[in-house]
Amino acid sequence: MAGLIPEQIISDIQNAADMVEVVGETVLLKKAGRNFVGLCPFHSEKTPSFSVSPDKQIFYCFGCGVGGNVFRFLMKQDGLSFPEAARTLGRRYNIEIPEKSGFSGTQTGISEREQMIRANQIALDFFRYRLSQLPDGERARTYLKKRGIFKKIIDRFGLGYAPQDWEALHRYLSKKGIASKIAVQSGLIIPRKNSSGCYDRFRDRIVFPIFHLNGQIVGFGGRVLDDALPKYINSPDSILFNKSQSLYGLQQSKEACRKSDSVIIVEGNVDVLALHQHGIKNVVATLGTALTADHIRRLKGFAAQFFLVYDSDDSGIKASERIVGLFIKENVDAHVAILPTGHDPDSYLTQFGSDDFSKVISKSLKIMPFLLTCAIKKYGMSTEGKIRILKDMKLALSSISDQVSRSLYVKEVSEKIGVDESALLEKVRHTTVRRSHEKSTRRLPDPLRPSDASDVNRSANRIEQQVIAIMLQCPDLIPEIMAQKVIERFGDENLKSIGWVVGSFLNDGPQRIQNIISTLNHSEKERIIARLVMTEEKWNNDTALKLIAHFKNIKRRESNDRQNRQIQAAEARGDQETVNELLRQKQIQARNPG
Ligand code: GTP
Ligand code: MN
Repeated sequence: MAGLIPEQIISDIQNAADMVEVVGETVLLKKAGRNFVGLCPFHSEKTPSFSVSPDKQIFYCFGCGVGGNVFRFLMKQDGLSFPEAARTLGRRYNIEIPEKSGFSGTQTGISEREQMIRANQIALDFFRYRLSQLPDGERARTYLKKRGIFKKIIDRFGLGYAPQDWEALHRYLSKKGIASKIAVQSGLIIPRKNSSGCYDRFRDRIVFPIFHLNGQIVGFGGRVLDDALPKYINSPDSILFNKSQSLYGLQQSKEACRKSDSVIIVEGNVDVLALHQHGIKNVVATLGTALTADHIRRLKGFAAQFFLVYDSDDSGIKASERIVGLFIKENVDAHVAILPTGHDPDSYLTQFGSDDFSKVISKSLKIMPFLLTCAIKKYGMSTEGKIRILKDMKLALSSISDQVSRSLYVKEVSEKIGVDESALLEKVRHTTVRRSHEKSTRRLPDPLRPSDASDVNRSANRIEQQVIAIMLQCPDLIPEIMAQKVIERFGDENLKSIGWVVGSFLNDGPQRIQNIISTLNHSEKERIIARLVMTEEKWNNDTALKLIAHFKNIKRRESNDRQNRQIQAAEARGDQETVNELLRQKQIQARNPG
């Protein structure tokens, strides 16, 4: 499991890590009894079924069935390998993981991903130094000053400057021991087309580092200092960086989002800086892409209310139509705010200040009423206009997959423009049916619901699961369970192998569950342990021993039935020898039950 990381260090990390703290970074957790609950980051849901046990250091989702320890959580959430998850936690809790020197990265277990993160970190140091220290950063400093961006904000967001030089960063990275291959992969340098060598991607640009929630730098955006095109370039998508998941500014804004339970979503990086500078700190920007379901899910860990800020009705309508269904599906409360013509959040704040900006936000409409108001404004309420309004609204309404929400909105719309509700519902339904048909033809299996044989036979092996739960809860009973040879009678092979491992950990202690999980070293079995720890009823010696006796009875009856069938079959064949042998076995068993 640990690969090349020593077991002792893994266990130190496990001891130091606090699951509630780690999960709490990305999932809004609330205390509920002994556990914490929140909205599952691995499937879409409206009521929290994702639980974390601080005592057991286990997470489990009652909705989609994922579960495991803190390593598993990071592996699932960030797509990390085990060593990567261990290193991430090691860094966080200041536990050093030795790197064997003299080997190349991969041999010491440092993945490409981690090497890319290191390259990005070194690049950031380089960009920041260029902005703050050297004379060629002067133009960039002047530019930022002219845009009204203070030193405090430059530091908070780690802004830098990429100099006007084709290979300055490439040389610096080489000097710091970063292989060109890694720098190419992270998009910092680009191979030349017609000759050998590489050149820097970012040149003569203000550089905006893009952080993952754990503080690692996954990419950069770079803006020109004048009106040249393209205005921005971004790091390309890679195994590290995905623009449809990353949000600019989330790392710096997440606390304010939690505090206010709301997030303002703008379009530009500079808008995020401007809002922070004006004291409004719950703000993120998409990286020049449309808002996606992944963005929404990520943000849901920090806020329930979303405010989308657009610079015109048209851009607001276009974006809202596309995502209204997503917001309703994810149960977030989304509002749309439109700035006066010609303004973006940055220019508006500079001209009018933060109070006026807050007024714009407070006057924003919920996404559906916003679309309706826009449509009415656009087409008017003549019969002709109403027909067009309906045509526009039909699309947005049919994107709502939840039937109850959909009919509520249909009711609202039909009342507002005075058309027959059932007629509108019919139109919308027609569109929805067509859409869901399109979808169903290319539906893929849900990767979050691993096919698990022991889930399929849940009722058949229910008692076997209960026995494991008993061994997890009452290690005192393990010797008795072993003496009664309970595990070897298990029918389910997966549960049997889990049973043997759990049965070998006799001493209770805070690390027991974790040690069992790392011994199993198997994601499906880890999930089963997490489920049993989090879901099983409480057992005491009395109820447990009764269950074990019951289990043995069932097994005895099963084996009795089997033997009787064999005896009958042998008799039918006239095979007296086998009949005698089977009867002899039966007698021995009757004398030595157990
Ligand atoms: P300023 O014009 O300096 O205020 O920048 P801005 O950050 O406000 O940018 P703007 O509103 O023009 O664009 C919004 C976002 O879209 C930017 O922050 C970038 O992420 C992205 N973007 C803008 N222009 C380009 C471009 O030319 N290429 C790419 N890839 N992205 C862009
Ligand atoms: Mn702008």
